[in-house]
Formats: sequence, C-alpha cells, structure tokens
Amino acid sequence: MDYQKILDQIHEELTYKDALGKVASYIPELAKVDPRKFGMHLYCDDASHFSFGDSEERFSIQSISKVFTLTMAMQLLGEDLWERVDVEPSGDPFNSLTQLEYENGVPRNPFINSGALVIADILVSNLQDPKRELLEFVRKLTGNNTIDYDLDVANSEKSTGYRNYALVNYMKALGNIKNDVEPIVDFYFHQCSLAMSCKELAQAFMLFANRGKLLETEEKIISKTKTKRINALMQTCGFYDEAGEFSFEVGLPGKSGVGGGIVAIHPSKYSVAVWSPLLNKKGNSELGMAALERLTTLTGFSIF
Ligand code: DON
Repeated sequence: MDYQKILDQIHEELTYKDALGKVASYIPELAKVDPRKFGMHLYCDDASHFSFGDSEERFSIQSISKVFTLTMAMQLLGEDLWERVDVEPSGDPFNSLTQLEYENGVPRNPFINSGALVIADILVSNLQDPKRELLEFVRKLTGNNTIDYDLDVANSEKSTGYRNYALVNYMKALGNIKNDVEPIVDFYFHQCSLAMSCKELAQAFMLFANRGKLLETEEKIISKTKTKRINALMQTCGFYDEAGEFSFEVGLPGKSGVGGGIVAIHPSKYSVAVWSPLLNKKGNSELGMAALERLTTLTGFSIF
C-alpha cells in the first residue's frame, strides 16, 4: 500500500477553505489557533510513517487525552472501574448533564466529559501525583520527553469551565465523586491541555493498534483484553453524538478533541492522526473526519 501517495491525494483534495466549521472559542485560548492548520501523520506496524502538512506542529489534544487517562484508570481498577462509569454511547453532546439525573450520577461512558471527570477522580484518588504520572505515561508511549501541558490553555479553560464544575458538583451530590472538586477539575483541565503533534499522537496510539505493546520494544503496557475494550469504546463513544456517523463514514475506532485533532487506529495495521481546528456542530474536526473518510475509501480497508 502506497500510503504516502494516498496522503498526498487527500492533501490535494481537501483544503480548509472547503470547511464550514469554526475554531473552538468556548476555551478562549483555543480561539487564537490559525484555522488554516492542516496536517496528517500515519504510523504503520512496521514503524514506517507517512505525513503531510502541519503534522509535526503541536496543538491542544483536549478530549483525545481521555483515552490515555482511561487506560491508566483501567490499569489501576480493572473491572471495578465499570461500577463508576458505563460503556454505552450517550447520543448526547460531550458536555451534557441531562442523563446523569435519571442515571444516578453514573456517566454513560468514559469519553463524555462527565465520564472523563469520574476517571480524573479515580486517578486523583489512586496516584500520588497524577499530573506527573500522566505526563510520564504519554512520554513513554511516544519516546519524547518534551511533551508537556500548555498552561495557558489549562488556565483559560479553568476560567470558563462552568459546565465541567457543574458536572463534578452534580456527580458529587449523587455520590459518584470521592475527592474535592478542585483537584479533579485541575487535573482534568491539565490533561486536556496536553500539547502534541499528529506524529506524536499517531506514535502513542500505536499501543492500541499493536495489541497493547510498544511498537519499538514490544514491551507490553496493557493486556489484549483491555486494548480490545478501549478500542470498542473509541468505536462506539469516541465521537459523542457523532459516533454513528464516524463509524458510518470512516469505519475505524477513534477519538476526537475540540483542538481539532482526531486519532484513529486500524488494529494490526496502522495508527493515524489528523489536525484541522475547524469544528463541525458536534465539536469534531470537519476536515479531519473528511480526511479519514478518504483514507479508508482510498485504501479500501476499514475494520468492517
Ligand atoms: O471539557 C471540555 O469541554 C474540553 N476540555 C474537552 C472537550 C472536547 O475535546 C470534546 N471533543 N471533541
């Protein structure tokens, strides 16, 4: 498969001018990002890799970080985790509060904000320094020790993060939050502010395409069963109320973030990340989704 040729064709076909979407502005710092940015990076299971555009420029990974924190929480709690958060698609926007009321404060899945905040609570309970340990985990997956939080983004989100504060407070009232509100949202805003490039995201997500092992050393990080479950959750819940559409158009497990990044994996084949900050109405990158649709169409392969 000539992946570089396919990526070049995608780059030629799609331009930011075709996207009607808007850069996220509810986190003020994200509104400053250049809407013309567009990059893509694909890593194969033989470590060859291919790219175009702004694939090595770091951006705010936002909700993509929820896959890393879920992985850490699964390592810590095993199957007990599922008493705190469910594994069903929500069909609602990522920051919705409504289902919590009639579902006793148990979020539908770990990728909507309420679910990710419960995961943050679990990491705050079980780790001495969760911010440092998350950083160490992501640095290990990429082999890059310069990956860091963007404190301007974290502080910016804190200043406008009323919905996330509301979600934690509400779940605490319903008994599904164990710690004080502040350390949980502080960790959550930091995890969302992680700055990574498409290249680094594709490297990190090879873990999920490679049955839980690091590509370079074959070191086992998570079990095959946990990898299967994380990939299943990305498939069914990775794009919130657009998870069906992403499965329909692209046909790969993946995760999006309001920074405009999307990562997807093809188990045992490749991991791919794309970045364009222009978001559709569901908060997912418009060009990113289009680029991945072209990828599975032009290669002729998806998981289905
Ligand atoms: O909590 C928030 O609203 C953001 N930090 C993350 C949301 C997000 O990335 C949704 N994904 N498309």
